[in-house]
Amino acid sequence: MKGLEQKRIILGVTGGIAAYKSAELVRRLMEQGADVQVVMTTAACEFITPLTFQALSGHPVRCESFDTSSEAAMSHIELARWADAVLVAPCSANTLAKIAGGIADNLLTTLILATDAPLLLAPAMNQQMWAQSTTAENVNSLAVKGIKILGPDIGEQACGDLGAGRMLEPDQLVDALIQSFQHLAFAGQRILITAGPTREAIDPVRFLSNRSSGKMGYALARAAREAGAAVTLISGPSVLATPAGIDVISVETAAEMHSAVMAHISKAGIFIGCAAVADYRLAEPASEKLKKQADSIQLTLVKNADILAEVAALPNPPFTVGFAAETSHLIENAREKLQRKHLNLIAANQVGDNQGFDQDDNELTVIWQDGQVELPSSSKNQLAKKLLEIIAQHYFQKSQPENNEKHPT
Ligand SMILES: Cc1cc2nc3c(=O)[nH]c(=O)nc-3n(C[C@H](O)[C@H](O)[C@H](O)COP(=O)(O)O)c2cc1C
Repeated sequence: MKGLEQKRIILGVTGGIAAYKSAELVRRLMEQGADVQVVMTTAACEFITPLTFQALSGHPVRCESFDTSSEAAMSHIELARWADAVLVAPCSANTLAKIAGGIADNLLTTLILATDAPLLLAPAMNQQMWAQSTTAENVNSLAVKGIKILGPDIGEQACGDLGAGRMLEPDQLVDALIQSFQHLAFAGQRILITAGPTREAIDPVRFLSNRSSGKMGYALARAAREAGAAVTLISGPSVLATPAGIDVISVETAAEMHSAVMAHISKAGIFIGCAAVADYRLAEPASEKLKKQADSIQLTLVKNADILAEVAALPNPPFTVGFAAETSHLIENAREKLQRKHLNLIAANQVGDNQGFDQDDNELTVIWQDGQVELPSSSKNQLAKKLLEIIAQHYFQKSQPENNEKHPT
């Protein structure tokens, strides 16, 4: 797997001589699998043209805060949310000072203030500018906030001076960015998640389904992504927005979900079956819309494949996590399902009476062979993060050597 696969990077370019190296940097980032969008300051456009970056990145380049066509395509807030990381290279003394002071007077500094993505700065300036006490104070105040300062290097400068202030080379910046992602719990791991309901056709306009909204599975996909995993989400019909940075495969029926899972499972180290997959489908869906004639009709249902059990029974199975939605005897039923299907973990949740399905909040009991833990009621986003922490503990503690062999990064 490439070091920046599925990672969305905003590259900020400011007004310094080293801006020419940023063109090479875009290429290096993309070679590592990153999707790169470039944001330039007005001064940067004096050193290198936006067209160069546009041609290299395959995205329009943003220079002005108040460009109406760019805002219409993707607003600065959407751009801030889109990013997995923001790298500013070169970072001028001026932009460095503005970021340290919380100033937001152009698109780059505004989106830096608006993003919660990790920020990495590669300062590049004349050695005297770098040595100034104001610059040093700005660097220190940024570093204590957890902002990564990459370099600068010492050497000969474009102005003829010798000293500290050269921008690190593109390869060094790419390595630093890759490393910053590797501190995340699931860096280098692939996680396959199913979400939402399935629909089983009765006729061309009607179907059997359930009340699952996909909220829990989508929250898990986002949380896994934030924890550094490459995530594939196989989703039944849902009105939820596609989460950023996630490979989403849309399916409708249980059979389609089964095929999609089986097509992608060999690459996944972890499988989380969160979808509410229909247990049964119609033996023979009608090819024409059923007419309202007879007083009663009978539908013959046949069993669908058990995706979770099939995944756990593969010769080289991933770490398999199931969900049990139960209306009664929650823990007994969930534990029975864990054992019968040979799962590593199961998350049990009570459904019905406005609980579980289609709610923003939920509570879970996470069960494994010789233990269990309660996750009290909270938002599905919070639950997803906690569940992933539990998955990480079990996955890395119990299966590390095996998993490393099967899924090298
Ligand atoms: C030829 C030239 C080279 C410059 N090189 C640098 C540089 O390497 N680093 C730096 O911090 N400023 C450099 N500057 C000054 C910045 O371009 C200036 O401070 C500008 O306001 C930065 O704006 P920005 O931070 O919005 O990009 C240079 C200016 C000129 C005219």
